[in-house]
Amino acid sequence: MNKPIITVIGSINMDLVTVAARFPNQGETILGKQFLTTPGGKGANQAVAAARLGANVRMIGAVGEDTFGKELLRSLRNGGISIQDVKPVTHEHTGIASITISEQDNRIIVVPGANHALTPEDLDKCESIIAQSDVCLLQLEIPIPVVERAVSLAHRHGVRVIVNPAPAQPLSPSVLEQVDFLTPNEHERALLFAGIDEGKFVNKLIVTEGAKGVRIWQDGQEQLIPSFRVPVVDTTGAGDTFNGALAVALAEGKPLDEACRFANAAAALSVTKLGAQAGMPTREDVESFLAKQKGNQG
Ligand code: RIB
Repeated sequence: MNKPIITVIGSINMDLVTVAARFPNQGETILGKQFLTTPGGKGANQAVAAARLGANVRMIGAVGEDTFGKELLRSLRNGGISIQDVKPVTHEHTGIASITISEQDNRIIVVPGANHALTPEDLDKCESIIAQSDVCLLQLEIPIPVVERAVSLAHRHGVRVIVNPAPAQPLSPSVLEQVDFLTPNEHERALLFAGIDEGKFVNKLIVTEGAKGVRIWQDGQEQLIPSFRVPVVDTTGAGDTFNGALAVALAEGKPLDEACRFANAAAALSVTKLGAQAGMPTREDVESFLAKQKGNQG
């Protein structure tokens, strides 16, 4: 089988991760247990997830011309991802995310920096890359006009588009109409469809419900695809792994329910290690995990 071509349009961040015994209260200082800097950003994470699972991945994004930017580009290149369309930005620092991990959960503040220097005109220059893709995958850590331009270019060329609407922001009805799939969590779903008739878009929805699994609708029939139980070290990047894996599975022609089961397995494996990208599984990892799963869902 030919490798599917996935173009990821999104953020590239350096994650500044602190592990602590608990989250501090407002106005309180506590001592952490561990600190690391590690590659992240929803866009880059989804690109790495898709590449590890065997896709041919192109990244469209922006980084600053600083140490973090250089390190992140090196890491994407080492992961086999094409970085030809990652724009170097001189007037902004590379995006960062300040992440605290505790209580089997995380709290994240992103400072977008160079990610917000990406423009719709940059996307126009990438039209042929978009047109050659099997799937385009986007998130919302880049400016919304860039997301809108990417969606419309992909739609014009008949390329399937998945939008992971995170962090939560509203999208225009025209974007909702042009995308093929939306992958919100429950909070993002509520914000996305405030004042909009969700029923019109329900067959595009893949709602991630954390430990419960993901909810899909096929021909209006609702179905929960349960998640897998695993020991949790760090949930950062689990949603990104799900999206990268989903893009690969759909590009390979898997039916939606099967694609979600595959993506659930990849996401489950990703939480067993510290760092957004560190635990992302290879194709073999997911296949052998799925082969061993019988009655371990939900
Ligand atoms: O989804 C996790 C990602 O969100 C982190 O890697 C961080 O960079 C933020 O973008």
